[in-house]
Amino acid sequence: MGRSAGPAIGRALLKSINAARADLVVVTGDLVQRAHRFHYRRAKDWLARVHAPLLVVPGNHDLYSWMYRPWMRITVPRGRYRRMVGSHVATTWHDPGVSVLGLDSATPWTIQRGRCTPAHVRRMRRHFGGCSAGVARVLAVHHPLVEVNPAFGRDLAKGAEEVALAAAHCGVDLLLFGHWHLSLACAIRLGGRQMVVSLAGTASSDRYRSPQEGVNAYHQIEVTRSDIVVEEWRFCRADAAFKAASRRTFARQRYG
Ligand SMILES: [Fe+2]
Repeated sequence: MGRSAGPAIGRALLKSINAARADLVVVTGDLVQRAHRFHYRRAKDWLARVHAPLLVVPGNHDLYSWMYRPWMRITVPRGRYRRMVGSHVATTWHDPGVSVLGLDSATPWTIQRGRCTPAHVRRMRRHFGGCSAGVARVLAVHHPLVEVNPAFGRDLAKGAEEVALAAAHCGVDLLLFGHWHLSLACAIRLGGRQMVVSLAGTASSDRYRSPQEGVNAYHQIEVTRSDIVVEEWRFCRADAAFKAASRRTFARQRYG
């Protein structure tokens, strides 16, 4: 909120997500542009209209801004995020076949870049260590932990390599990232394991990144025992609606 691509897009996104009747909606951060109260009110109202359970991790924009609230950014960087959103949503989710963990990679000490620490690795090991072998493991982080396309040429979070490798060792099947404003699904190999990456595009804001100028998109993901299917839904301005644009199917690798 705070950089909307138009009045129709938030409504269209909500309609599309609710029509999907998802088991879970994961939001990988940057809910707001500047962490102003009125930005957060809009975000909170929008999230309240999502029918499915929500799992949310904050992005760099969700912390108090250096520009407007430098002291708050240092002392209570997530204060408004927690009050308005964080305390009302989950960071973990389970069903008999899928387990999802969200990690908070935002840090007040850099403008954009995220930070991962050994505490993230410990939390991930604790969380996924309790899963039985067939359960699909999903990790959601705002800042990407792996390079997905050299052409994008963007910095990874500090400490990303260690967390990504630990994710592979924990048997993670699917990595959900945001931050780069680029919609992409691919498979990577790391630590002897194949993991699927769903990089969330710009869902409703006008902060586009080359080569996806003017593209607003989100992913619908289906996880089965054998596959992970990532479907990209793009906003069609002529119809003021999100429409299925592409679909990729990845075979799941056994774990344990
Ligand atoms: Fe971000």
